[in-house]
Amino acid sequence: MDKIIIEGGRKLKGDVTISGSKNAALPIIAATLLTDKECIIDNVPFLKDVEVMNKLINILGGKVEFEKNKLCINNKEINKFKAPYELLKTMRAGVYVMGALLGRYKKFEVALPGGCVIGERPINLHINGFKKLGAKINIEHGYVKARAKKLRGTEIYLDVVSVGATINIMMASVLAEGVTIIKNAACEPHVVDLGNFLNKIGARISGLGTREIIIEGVQKLNGGNYKIISDYIEAGTFMVAAGITNSKITLQNAPIGDLEAVEDKLKKAGCRIDKKENEITIYGVDRPNGVDIETLPYPGFPTDMQAQWTAFMSISSGTSVIRETIWEKRFMHVPELNRMGADILVKGNTAIVKGVKNLSGAQVMVSDLRAGASLVLAGLRATGKTEISRVYHLDRGYEKIEEKLEKLGARIKRSKENR
Ligand code: EPZ
Repeated sequence: MDKIIIEGGRKLKGDVTISGSKNAALPIIAATLLTDKECIIDNVPFLKDVEVMNKLINILGGKVEFEKNKLCINNKEINKFKAPYELLKTMRAGVYVMGALLGRYKKFEVALPGGCVIGERPINLHINGFKKLGAKINIEHGYVKARAKKLRGTEIYLDVVSVGATINIMMASVLAEGVTIIKNAACEPHVVDLGNFLNKIGARISGLGTREIIIEGVQKLNGGNYKIISDYIEAGTFMVAAGITNSKITLQNAPIGDLEAVEDKLKKAGCRIDKKENEITIYGVDRPNGVDIETLPYPGFPTDMQAQWTAFMSISSGTSVIRETIWEKRFMHVPELNRMGADILVKGNTAIVKGVKNLSGAQVMVSDLRAGASLVLAGLRATGKTEISRVYHLDRGYEKIEEKLEKLGARIKRSKENR
């Protein structure tokens, strides 16, 4: 197992290129199962989760070539319909093959992924959607099994705005007979990107980016080329890196327009932001103002930026209240930040962050992807050495993170952990 070591307290400077979106790449890879034609997907981040999704496609009988952030997938010869627990337990996005297999083959057998450190993560809304489209579902021995003679378009209302359920229902309904309307749908940029990909290969989806998505079923999908959007969570993480180290950083290949909630809070904290074309420049502050946040579905403040924001607020000149409304257990980074000198109290779904003058480097442990990002940010700001263990969580979602930070002037390196 690797660990990351940071010598903190240094300013950063320069340009960083934002990678393709992990949370768009994963469903788009799964969605290629809906066609027997070749798909070439560009700007795919080289990440552990992407590797696992590719492996899953291989297990089902698909052919995948991945080189220089370009994926070439051919799913002409899919001959297995079972996604095993061994893969699903390491990457929950494996559930996306449910919608795609159901859509094209009218059947699947996919392991229930189980809970995760950030919350319970049920998939009841996905399953209800499949049932409404006409699938018969059985859950036995830890697997969800589905079969359908035919899928028929219908109206599906989601009780909770869910990215995963919106994605799975979209994929299951593109080849269904008639029109499907998803109400209270998710409008995250990666949901829109999946819809744009499906439209590019012949689907008829409208209302993307709104709470009502309309899918007119078509008989067949084609193949084609598609370029994935930039990762707005990676971009937000680098913006906070500039904020917390009082630095000027320019993001290239930036997801302009996808990050408004985060930009608004950064400005309230005292940062300056300049934007042009695909470029965002951010200027940090020595000690930000305390700024409250509440995580919400898009276009609200993203839960996937909450841990990073908590790290930023730990050195604010005031007090801030962080309310997490999406994942009930997503405060695992707090005890670690407190080990670095932060003053944060968690009560239920709220963290109260009293800003301190500075953090001090310590040995800390990553519990999940974004918690890992928050510890890297804290380490960049802290005086002295921060040793971050269990960094495999970070490798699931940040492409070349140490390389990118080192280029910006950070003293960061990876080394093997002593067992
Ligand atoms: C996606 O997870 C992301 N994962 C998560 O990112 C992100 O935190 C989350 O959306 C919210 O934005 C991927 O895109 C691969 P949801 P997902 O279904 O789809 C409840 C990261 O760090 N719910 O939108 O699993 C659920 O409990 C990861 O990159 C149900 O009640 O999230 C939660 O409270 C972590 N029943 C809320 O909806 C369901 O059937 C939102 O979950 C489904 C969800």
